[in-house]
Amino acid sequence: MSLLSAEGISTGYGGMRVLWEVDLAVEPGELLCVLGPNGAGKTSLAMCISGVLPAWSGSLAFDGLDVTRANPERRAGLGIIQVLQGRRVFPDLSVDENLRVARFAARTRASAATEQFVFELFEPLTRLRGVPAGRLSGGEQQMVAIARALFAEPRLLILDEPSLGLAPLLVQGLYRAIRRIKETGVSVLLIEQVVGAALEVADRVAVLEAGRIVDGGPVEKFRDSAVLAHGYLGGHFGGANDG
Ligand SMILES: Nc1ncnc2c1ncn2[C@@H]1O[C@H](COP(=O)(O)OP(=O)(O)OP(=O)(O)O)[C@@H](O)[C@H]1O
Ligand SMILES: [Mg+2]
Repeated sequence: MSLLSAEGISTGYGGMRVLWEVDLAVEPGELLCVLGPNGAGKTSLAMCISGVLPAWSGSLAFDGLDVTRANPERRAGLGIIQVLQGRRVFPDLSVDENLRVARFAARTRASAATEQFVFELFEPLTRLRGVPAGRLSGGEQQMVAIARALFAEPRLLILDEPSLGLAPLLVQGLYRAIRRIKETGVSVLLIEQVVGAALEVADRVAVLEAGRIVDGGPVEKFRDSAVLAHGYLGGHFGGANDG
């Protein structure tokens, strides 16, 4: 049984539809990478899964439970935890306070083992615990954002373009961390626009374009360099690689 199973999900904003009958499954322990260009609907899909954006139609099951109508708190309680695009942290709160907010929202305490894992994973945060998150670098803020999600003890971690705006060296470090998170057995739904590092950790890929899943399959299919010209899925992302 899939951990997450979305069937025929449609949604939008006001009268504007942005997703058309999206089918998507994430298996236990798997990393599914959703690729797609700007405006494809990747964030909207993530919001629909975490429950922030209601689905207009379709159904969503998590661990065999129908969560189509469940609110975001209930979904978070079941283990669907999203890291928002743009690594949002509370700038005036310290790193420690940012992490504690996650536990407050989930109404439980992170286990000592989780805390230890997180500070090993993001070692630089150890010496920054008392520093206001707004003073950290972009890479460090991304660590805080992911650490906060891990404190909520996810079963499905949704990462929305985590590498956006990070220098290549930081992206490498970030992806090492994502790999280690996956190795602990957490399923990951990874949204990216640039494919390089993402395809090294992914098990499976789904391509979203203009609100529809247009391709998908095991990652091997997408590692073919002909498909990955220019770091984008050129065959699909029409326009980006023209000429
Ligand atoms: N809050 C909103 N209100 C109205 N329209 C929105 C809102 N958020 C997104 N949209 C529109 O929905 C469509 C899908 O946007 P979405 O943010 O889901 O795409 P995306 O694939 O995440 O893009 P990006 O790679 O730029 O993050 C776009 O046309 C966008 O303009
Ligand atoms: Mg987005």
